[in-house]
Amino acid sequence: MMNRIAISILPLLTMLIWSTNSMAQGPSRAEFMASSCLVCHGQEAKGALKIPPLNDLKVSDIKESMIGFKTGEERSTIMGIIAKDYSKEDIILLAEYIAALPD
Ligand code: HEC
Repeated sequence: MMNRIAISILPLLTMLIWSTNSMAQGPSRAEFMASSCLVCHGQEAKGALKIPPLNDLKVSDIKESMIGFKTGEERSTIMGIIAKDYSKEDIILLAEYIAALPD
C-alpha cells in the first residue's frame, strides 16, 4: 500500500520541484532587458504610435542600429540615450532575443 502511494506521488513531487525550480530562475537576462524596450516598442515589438516595430528586423539590423545609436553615428531622439549604457554583449543578447519574437 505505502509503496503504491509512493510510486504514484513520486512523479508528481518531481514535477513540482522541477517546475518551482524553473520558475525560480525567472526570466532570462535577455528577456529581462528586452522588457524595458517593449514598453515603448509594443509588447510584441510590433511598434506603437510613432515608435518603429522591431519584430520584423534581423539580428544584424538591431545590433547595427543599437551600436549606431550608442556611438551617435545613427541620429535619434531617444535611442542614443538608451543604447549608450548597454555593453556590446548585452546588445547582442537583446538583438537575438528581439529578432526571435514572432513577426
Ligand atoms: C522611450 C521609448 C523607447 C524605449 C524604452 C526603447 N526605444 Fe528603441 N526606439 C524608440 C524611438 C522613438 C525610435 C526611433 C529613433 C529615435 O528617435 O530614437 C527607436 C528606434 C529603435 C530601433 C531602430 C528601428 C528601425 O527600424 O530603425 C531599434 C533597433 C531600437 N529602437 C531598439 C530598442 C531596444 C533594443 C530597446 C531596449 C534596450 C529600445 N529600443 C528601447 C523608442 C524607444
